[in-house]
Amino acid sequence: MVTRRVDLRSDTVTKPTETMRAAMVNAEVDDDVLGFDPTAASLEKKMAKIMGKEAALFVPSGTMANLICVLVHCQIRGSEVILGDYSHIHIYENGGISTLGGVHPRTVKNNEDGTMDIDRIEESIRDPSFEICYPTTRLICLENSHAHSGGRCLSAEYTDKVGELAKKYGLKLHIDGARIFNASVALGVSVHRLVQAADSVTACLSKGLGAPAGTVIAGSKDFINKAKILRKTLGGGMRQIGVLCAAAIVAVEENVEKLEGDHKKAKILAAGINNIKGLKVDLDSVETNIVFFDILKESGTNGDELMKKLEAHGVLAMPEGPCKIRLALHHQISEHDVQYTISCIQKIVTGLPDKNGVN
Ligand SMILES: Cc1ncc(COP(=O)(O)O)c(C=O)c1O
Repeated sequence: MVTRRVDLRSDTVTKPTETMRAAMVNAEVDDDVLGFDPTAASLEKKMAKIMGKEAALFVPSGTMANLICVLVHCQIRGSEVILGDYSHIHIYENGGISTLGGVHPRTVKNNEDGTMDIDRIEESIRDPSFEICYPTTRLICLENSHAHSGGRCLSAEYTDKVGELAKKYGLKLHIDGARIFNASVALGVSVHRLVQAADSVTACLSKGLGAPAGTVIAGSKDFINKAKILRKTLGGGMRQIGVLCAAAIVAVEENVEKLEGDHKKAKILAAGINNIKGLKVDLDSVETNIVFFDILKESGTNGDELMKKLEAHGVLAMPEGPCKIRLALHHQISEHDVQYTISCIQKIVTGLPDKNGVN
């Protein structure tokens, strides 16, 4: 029987640390819907500063955070948002901006590095003189790091250029920064600088940072006041959230520095898998904590089969297509876990045991 568990399904699977649990037990709390929870206020102040914005707001999830931001920027019916065809908002958030917000999406192709060509963004901005037929473009969304491209990072310079374009046309810029801390650490550029051009930004506390729940939205005071009302409308106003915010404060204070190690482990894992005959990793794409690998025909296996066999060894992964698997690193995966995972995959795909003796 395998007792070992290496959970690489996502960076959202982490368990709260002892320090987080202690902070939750001792958190000072009050009713946050009424605006009195001191721990929430303290987290929001801290996050606004890190993100270089006037104010911030704790919300239950990244999905709700993006929805609120898009809806605040696109309050007028007939609004359109330009976003990547492989952006999280477009693919994985139940089309909430349309189904709940009545906002029309205009997609632009995401390049392999997660960017969208700036001239393609510009071409997609609607000509207001033809409003008799067109919806009105009001917002551009970027995602940093870009999950579907394997956690690749958008540079501050690229983001600035999109920001300049937005300004030129009187549009707003939103950044889905679910993993903005990963991007910041990988690029060696502060979060504040990376999102300087954005009118709103989200940062998830429950991904690489390891908090049990929550995402923070940051923007101007006026924007956050509107976001607070929408949060309540969507059922995201919560009462004694200091319990969650206390864990999030620990996450920000203690876990940002662990991200560099996660990125290192991702590179080791990627290189190890790429060395296995029948598997392929685009090593250049591994910039942060996510590794995608392709299962080639010559391997004689496929994603489903490989994942089932891996599970029997206690290694959990996420499918990304019939012959593609995603592995996400986080602070509760050790270097030893990484070596064990490589060994398991090698044994399953090639039938050859390796130096770690997995059989
Ligand atoms: C880039 C990105 N944005 C937003 C989200 C949504 O976050 P949540 O799962 O907290 O709703 C995710 C979740 O994985 C994500 O990867």
